[in-house]
Amino acid sequence: MSITKQTVINTYLPDQPLPGTHAEAFAPSNIALCKYWGKRDVELNLPINGSLSISLGELGSRTEITESETGADQVYLNHELQAEDNSFARKVIAFINLFRGELNQPVCVKTINNIPTAAGLASSASGFAALTLAINDFYNLGLSDDKLSAFARMGSGSASRSIYQGFVEWHKGVRDDGMDSCAERLDITWPGFRIGLLKVATGAKKVDSRSGMQRTVESADLYQSWPQQAANDLATIKRAIADRDLELLGQTAEQNALSMHATMIASWPPLLYWQPESVAAMHRVWELRALGVPVYLTMDAGPNLKLLFHSEYEAQVRNAFPELLDLDIVAPFG
Ligand code: DP6
Repeated sequence: MSITKQTVINTYLPDQPLPGTHAEAFAPSNIALCKYWGKRDVELNLPINGSLSISLGELGSRTEITESETGADQVYLNHELQAEDNSFARKVIAFINLFRGELNQPVCVKTINNIPTAAGLASSASGFAALTLAINDFYNLGLSDDKLSAFARMGSGSASRSIYQGFVEWHKGVRDDGMDSCAERLDITWPGFRIGLLKVATGAKKVDSRSGMQRTVESADLYQSWPQQAANDLATIKRAIADRDLELLGQTAEQNALSMHATMIASWPPLLYWQPESVAAMHRVWELRALGVPVYLTMDAGPNLKLLFHSEYEAQVRNAFPELLDLDIVAPFG
């Protein structure tokens, strides 16, 4: 039997949080270079494998919490008040409930995502990280970074990494309560590192990552080899980052992402997030690489690509992918 989120939080929080007045926090979105795919504990979002990501600088979520003036909880997303039964509003309030205990203080939570809509990126990672940071501030919890990361993880696994900027490793941890399953920032900057957010297809995805990874774990024999590959890839990617070796990083990240997709395709019913446009874009990446431009791709549980390259090659990448706007090219180290 899994430990509940509430039990874990009660163990580490003061008995009764203090009522707050105002808090505001920002957290970046992140792209995994070594993917998180599969859970050892579904309730706490404890991963089967460790993962490593790059945060997207100023692209992410800003969340503000104030006392509600209406006497009821209110949730806004991108300036729009959400209905009480809306799925976003329900997730936000359920998460706040974990922390506010018996405190009878309705709150108003406003979240703004500034990720370019053209990027087609999920915002649950930055959203839960910003919400956790704002909760910490609003209720004066004084949580350490490790605890903030572990608590954000209970909202969405990848949110554990969005507590930090730069390259971030999420340790899978071994404890039943998951408190060692938190992320850590790597002390490395790489000013020339670039990420291109290439949106190739629109439309809501049919299967979210949460159910997609569960289906893979339960039905794909191919998944058996994933934990060991992810562990090897994680070690290689850390070495590539330390050596600022774009080729090694890119090759390992691309192979890691495609291996994750192979496990999804091998699930039943099969899970194929790619659209014809995704495959066409992959071929464009490989053609560009054949011409001598070191550009690599990674993909999450959706049809869009993220390109990994060095600023030296930005002109060639822009030329080959004219649909990339200035905002779609992220320089995570400024
Ligand atoms: C493919 O963090 O969205 O993007 O923990 O169920 O909320 P939950 O899943 P989520 O999964 C992200 C999966 C991924 C890979 C990654 O970001 O590491």
